[in-house]
Amino acid sequence: MVKLKWLITSAGVKMPGIIYGTAWKKDRTADLVVKAVQAGFRGIDTACQPRHYNEPLVGTAIDRLKALGIEREDLFLQTKFTPLSGQDPNQVPYDINSPVELQVAQSFETSKKSLQTEYVDSLILHSPMTPRAVLMTVWNAMEKIQKAGGARQLGISNCYDAQVLQSLYSDADVKPAVVQNRFYRETNYDADLRHWCSHHGVIYQSFWTLTANPHILASNTVRTIAQKYKKTEAQIFFRYLSHSGIVPLTGTSSEKHMNEDLGIFGFELSSADLKHVDLLLNRV
Ligand SMILES: NC(=O)c1ccc[n+]([C@@H]2O[C@H](COP(=O)([O-])OP(=O)(O)OC[C@H]3O[C@@H](n4cnc5c(N)ncnc54)[C@H](OP(=O)(O)O)[C@@H]3O)[C@@H](O)[C@H]2O)c1
Repeated sequence: MVKLKWLITSAGVKMPGIIYGTAWKKDRTADLVVKAVQAGFRGIDTACQPRHYNEPLVGTAIDRLKALGIEREDLFLQTKFTPLSGQDPNQVPYDINSPVELQVAQSFETSKKSLQTEYVDSLILHSPMTPRAVLMTVWNAMEKIQKAGGARQLGISNCYDAQVLQSLYSDADVKPAVVQNRFYRETNYDADLRHWCSHHGVIYQSFWTLTANPHILASNTVRTIAQKYKKTEAQIFFRYLSHSGIVPLTGTSSEKHMNEDLGIFGFELSSADLKHVDLLLNRV
């Protein structure tokens, strides 16, 4: 089995170089998480957002994994606080009439209960909120959780405006350690934002990596590199991202793809091939 690569974040947290995402798995969530961890994944991404994630079934998987000898401490567990605008109005996992800072606390209590854990490795704000004062109130509530030992690090998702990230970073007491964004050409692959992140020790996690980029996967460049290394196009793209300091999320339901996604750490791309993919991203 190929060895998983780990990174150390600015918060000193060990984070896997590829993370298993649990969105849209519904009733299959527990079985798929167990399969993914058995295949070699150690990072699990979820959210307290019943519309898209079944967080309690992630907890069931964690419990089942213990019986298989995989302890909670062996895993990197990441969940999110999802603001009201991202929740299904019929299944909001906190009191909508509470002030927003209490919603953060209630959401986190729900996550801990669902996940059957006392702490998470990473707590992410699902999307920036406006006005800025609300964003800071929410962030301060997340900082309180981090300082009490409930979350080892904090992060933000769907943050495509570098100024929002920079001002959050400069005002935050607990700095964001990760940004989790959609990786697609409409934002120029967050090139400027990623540049800033790499200079401030913020790790960029990508989602929509394969689904948003069929043109990249079908390109002559990636196909030729795939043939050369005897890998799939998806593996080449994930490996390219990993070489570039990005941590991709994958939500595959296929055991074959789980193994392929983990297999990216079993080979290195040459600097010339990395440049070819760089050029491709800059071109589209
Ligand atoms: N923060 C946010 O707002 C946000 C939004 C969306 C997602 N996410 C997170 O990101 C995770 C990943 O979501 P995603 O949107 O990137 O999509 P995804 O759920 O990973 O789906 C990607 C597609 O890629 C396929 N795939 C995976 N590995 C492959 C491989 N090696 N070769 C070929 N096809 C492969 C999968 O098909 P198979 O199942 O057949 O392999 C699937 O159809 C989610 O589960 C969630 O945790 C976060």
